[in-house]
Amino acid sequence: MAKVQIALAPGDGIGPEIMDATVELMKAAKVTNYVDFIPVEMGARVFLTGNSRGMTDAAIRTVEDCGILFKGPMETPKGGGGKSINVTARKLWNAYANFRTFKTLPGVETVYSKAGINLDFSVVRENIEDTYGGVEHRLSNDMIQCKRLISAPGSDAVHRFAFQTARKLGVKKVHCGHKANIMKMTDGLFLDRFKAVGKDFAEIEIADVIVDALCMNLVLKPQQYQMIVLPNLQGDIVSDLCAGLVGGLGFAPSANIGNHISIFEAVHGTAPDIAGKGVANPTSLVLSGLMMLRHICLAKEAALIENALLATLESGVHTGDFGDKSKPSVGTKQFTQAIIDNLGNKPKTVPATPDADAADTCFIRPPKPQAQQVIRTYKNLVTHVVGCDIYLDSPLAPLSLAEEMARACADTPFKLSLISNRGTQVWPIGSIYTECVDYYRVRFELKDNVAPGNFGQSRCVALMDKIAESFTVCSYELLRTFDGIKGYSLAQGQ
Ligand code: NAI
Repeated sequence: MAKVQIALAPGDGIGPEIMDATVELMKAAKVTNYVDFIPVEMGARVFLTGNSRGMTDAAIRTVEDCGILFKGPMETPKGGGGKSINVTARKLWNAYANFRTFKTLPGVETVYSKAGINLDFSVVRENIEDTYGGVEHRLSNDMIQCKRLISAPGSDAVHRFAFQTARKLGVKKVHCGHKANIMKMTDGLFLDRFKAVGKDFAEIEIADVIVDALCMNLVLKPQQYQMIVLPNLQGDIVSDLCAGLVGGLGFAPSANIGNHISIFEAVHGTAPDIAGKGVANPTSLVLSGLMMLRHICLAKEAALIENALLATLESGVHTGDFGDKSKPSVGTKQFTQAIIDNLGNKPKTVPATPDADAADTCFIRPPKPQAQQVIRTYKNLVTHVVGCDIYLDSPLAPLSLAEEMARACADTPFKLSLISNRGTQVWPIGSIYTECVDYYRVRFELKDNVAPGNFGQSRCVALMDKIAESFTVCSYELLRTFDGIKGYSLAQGQ
């Protein structure tokens, strides 16, 4: 069988040091009998040439041809609007599910390991939606907005990945973490789709937990969780919290899985403070590499390396960032050599990873899509326009604004139904204690004698046009019903 081609980007800072260590280890375990690593240019050096993506065209082609990218940490350019190359790569290649595992490791002391509590669980984080779209605008002198986008097909994809992975790993219960009590529509959709997709995996128990309670539970009793699936931002925060439970980011591997391209990387950064000193801990990247080997069915080689790593950690060999401080630390090269020397050995104080049968690689690169796909979950819903929210940059007080807006809509099919400020209703009912800023939402809904379905959005646009003659309209959102259900939230206090 032809060797699997893997695009290899060592990264910046400590990236090249830990990538060299990881590749050397893989060579020693004969992974290179099955895999070719193809170097690609990504990261700081490419940014410095003025390339704002941080990756050359040749690198993009190679990653797309290979279908797998193994990458070291990469620096995000500071200021100047430069986007994180790590986020760009996940979004560009639709690596929609971030999978991270958290295991108690021997020789890595934590409050839980000291208490004899063994942790072994995972987090699946939606990787490309949510606030990570980076859709941000300054709306007025004092207000900036970041749009939070959650889609049904995007949620379905990540939930399906989570349940399929749970099935493969024998996980019996999957939790969905969310904040649907507050963000009833966005997180509500994420949670609804979790329950819907979960129905196809009847053997797996499902449960949900509000993210703030989840954080407390994770600190108090982390062993109650097997797998948690979360939207992007909450998943980002929770997965770093989980890394802390098992010793820090240096021990947390990460896979970014997509239908065509998957990216395997350490979760820590470029550690500029220790770069070039030869002291970096390669464990996180090695563990990410093991996820990659399992992704292409090299389970035998993954188990061999994992057991050697566990035996090494167990023996007390450690880099400067962890371990028994009374024993001298070793550098990256000696740490790697100790793992190579342990190939074939198994840990004694923790369960060894079961040996796997030798198998050929199973990775078949999915065919390149002919065009961008439009993915859909809900189709053929009956929608009706029932009004619009018009967002204004205005220094007026709510009452004066209401008078102007009531005048503006007098000859239209709409009535002024509410004004809110920072999401809190300030008109027709409001509290004198609600402080307002210079950015309002003004809601117009159909007058009582106008039935929905008689016109589309052109009347709303006409109303906005009229208002724009004397006000700064920042944006507008249509109010619609979908099969009779309101597609918009109520204001706080409404
Ligand atoms: P960092 O993770 O690079 O460093 C935080 C602290 O942890 C430092 O004291 C560092 O020495 C230590 N550390 C991290 N990895 C280590 C390792 N393998 N061995 C020993 N010690 C280690 O986070 P920081 O300083 O916030 O970010 C530095 C750069 O990395 C930034 O440009 C950031 O954008 C980038 N970054 C890249 C990521 C990626 O490529 N996925 C993820 C996070 C940050």
